[in-house]
Amino acid sequence: MSYRQSQFIDPLLRWQDHVPQSTTFSDKYFVSENTLAESRHVFLNGIGAPGVWQNKADFTIFEAGFGTGVNFLNTWVNWKQSASPSFRLHYLAVEAFPLTADDILKATRPFDELGNSRQQLAENLPPLHPGYHRLVLDRGRVRLTLLYGDILDMLETLSPETQFDGCYLDGFAQTRNPEMWTAELFKLLSRHAKPGAGLATYSSATKICDALNDAGIIFNTRPGLMRRRDCLQGTFPETAAKPSTAPWFSPPPPQPRDTAIAIIGAGIGGAAMAYALRQSGADVTIFDQQNGPAAGASGNPVGILHPRLTTDNSAPGQFHAGAYLHTLNTLDALTAQGFKVRPGDEKGLLALPLHDRDARRQRKLADTFALPGSHMEFVLKQHASKLAGIDINADALWFKGAGCIDPKIFCTALIGDTPLRANCFIEHLQKTDDGWALFDGQGTCVMETPLVILANGLDCNRLLPGDGFPVNPKRGQISYLEPDTVSKNLLAPVTFGGYITPAFNGNTPHIIGATFEDWPDGLANDSWPALQQSSHQCNLDLLAEKIPALAPLCQDLPNDGRASLRATTADRLVIAGAVPDEDFYQHHYTDLHHGKAASDYPPGRYQPGLYCLTGLGSRGFQTALLAAEAVVATLFATPAPVAEHLMHAIHPARFIARDLKKQ
Ligand SMILES: Cc1cc2nc3c(=O)[nH]c(=O)nc-3n(C[C@H](O)[C@H](O)[C@H](O)COP(=O)(O)OP(=O)(O)OC[C@H]3O[C@@H](n4cnc5c(N)ncnc54)[C@H](O)[C@@H]3O)c2cc1C
Ligand SMILES: C[S@@+](CC[C@H](N)C(=O)[O-])C[C@H]1O[C@@H](n2cnc3c(N)ncnc32)[C@H](O)[C@@H]1O
Repeated sequence: MSYRQSQFIDPLLRWQDHVPQSTTFSDKYFVSENTLAESRHVFLNGIGAPGVWQNKADFTIFEAGFGTGVNFLNTWVNWKQSASPSFRLHYLAVEAFPLTADDILKATRPFDELGNSRQQLAENLPPLHPGYHRLVLDRGRVRLTLLYGDILDMLETLSPETQFDGCYLDGFAQTRNPEMWTAELFKLLSRHAKPGAGLATYSSATKICDALNDAGIIFNTRPGLMRRRDCLQGTFPETAAKPSTAPWFSPPPPQPRDTAIAIIGAGIGGAAMAYALRQSGADVTIFDQQNGPAAGASGNPVGILHPRLTTDNSAPGQFHAGAYLHTLNTLDALTAQGFKVRPGDEKGLLALPLHDRDARRQRKLADTFALPGSHMEFVLKQHASKLAGIDINADALWFKGAGCIDPKIFCTALIGDTPLRANCFIEHLQKTDDGWALFDGQGTCVMETPLVILANGLDCNRLLPGDGFPVNPKRGQISYLEPDTVSKNLLAPVTFGGYITPAFNGNTPHIIGATFEDWPDGLANDSWPALQQSSHQCNLDLLAEKIPALAPLCQDLPNDGRASLRATTADRLVIAGAVPDEDFYQHHYTDLHHGKAASDYPPGRYQPGLYCLTGLGSRGFQTALLAAEAVVATLFATPAPVAEHLMHAIHPARFIARDLKKQ
């Protein structure tokens, strides 16, 4: 089940002092006096907090109706005061009419107790784009997953494994917002409730009580606070979890939190894994055969962010759009910490159409809200020329938040203080009783650990038991060109099938990229780093054809550049999650092509303690971070950062499952 791609409806706020009221629903978001005390009484105490989270390393709350975020902020602040510093709060909240950051700040301004959490929320608030938005707050202690869309649609997209400890029901009054209080909704929620999970809401309206009864939820009224006579608290019944639509993608049992983890690879894949794991409080060591981070495919002097969108609201398009927005958010966070992850001062990237049909596709991307208007704009060629600073002879797409990144600084910032064992080639992995032993090229065991994450690009398959993944090696060469009098005016990177980066005030050469060459033998043919004149020629020919104003720049072949190998997949999606046990799949799912009911199959089985993040293809800098969040969710059975169908779309077992379905 997917979610729709559309523009959001404005909640049409009317303000009474700082209290917003929705004109659409003719109701207030909260009552004006002592809002925080009431939120604490009704919602936090209603689910048994703070006592209920005292012994839970991961505590998950689901909220129906995020609104101004007051309940969330109040929960965060109270949780931080009472939960152990090593514990993590996961908060999932659904909202069909999202407020802007300014409105959230205005609504929460009077609440001093919330400290700078409100500022943090506002700074990280996603744009109005349907679907999942993962916000990593408080240096990873709090993960907020905002589900922008209608409550029923969004509940349908939750992975069965997403299970909460407590639930806040906070729709507008039942008479005005009946769809937030139906038995159908409560039943759907029950499938995501852990045994004994609490429920809390401010209203004890008869119709709500009836719907709760119909859904089998046991509840009682208790005295309210302030102007409300009473409120409700309840406990979800033991309900079978939502059935999996694809048991072959069911995750393995969760790993213990305190397990030592080895990551192999310090490119963007390994760096993103280290970042996500460190924020989850995990104990991580990275190994790389090179002398530091970003020395493989991730090692170009400049990378660009250019999301791979689709007009059909398909899984790849949804994943790439979400991953891109998540990356922009992380880049802002790293910039705020003082890392110069973006080499230029200005943001923005201009994407020219590849051909006439692509021009129509670009218009459609804008019309179908593949990204919100605040992030993607269709611009006519005059405007495009102004944005680029040079003559552009086609209408184009302008990606406001995109632009260039410095891969080395990006990876280094993500790795942070995670121990990195450089110049250490992992020659092979050996299964042990408790996990894996990592051996270097000299046959020395460099680490024994229960958990290994393979983030070593194309070399991943060599370390895997079995056949590995169908990744296609593609060589890419970039060319460095000194700016000329025209090109030095280039203000933003421009893509056209290839790309050119600006010279940043004439301080750096342009990077012209990148070839996409078959390299069938992969790493086994180790001549890929040698620069080839024909590859330079390809880069320059394409640039001169697509941006004639830069043709003079392309007259002489450059004498410098860089080449590396990409690990690409046929579906252009990353491979992120637990490594499947191929034999088990071949044995238990051999008749998948018969189209039998999913419930006829057992859950998938995996190589114990072996996970991966690879197949990053041509867009690793914009997909690795969200994919790493997905791997962490799989590792610890915490809420997924994307919808169930997207977890399936990036699942490492998808290739085997597809093959078996075809047979
Ligand atoms: C020419 C070119 C231009 C590109 N431009 C862009 C761009 O502008 N934007 C974008 O988003 N993407 C771009 N990409 C794609 C992007 O570079 C990749 O998706 C990304 O770098 C892949 O990251 P990775 O961590 O999986 O692999 P890598 O960066 O290759 O990292 C793997 C690491 O693992 C280490 N390793 C491998 N095997 C072992 C072992 N056995 N033991 C120890 N260490 C090991 C390697 O040394 C390496 O550091 C480009 C790719 C190419 C080739
Ligand atoms: C009372 S307000 C929530 C207040 C919020 N908990 C807070 O802390 O500010 C109710 C919220 O439910 C949202 N809502 C109403 N109908 C919805 C639906 N069908 N799906 C998702 N959200 C909905 C409204 O937009 C509104 O933000």
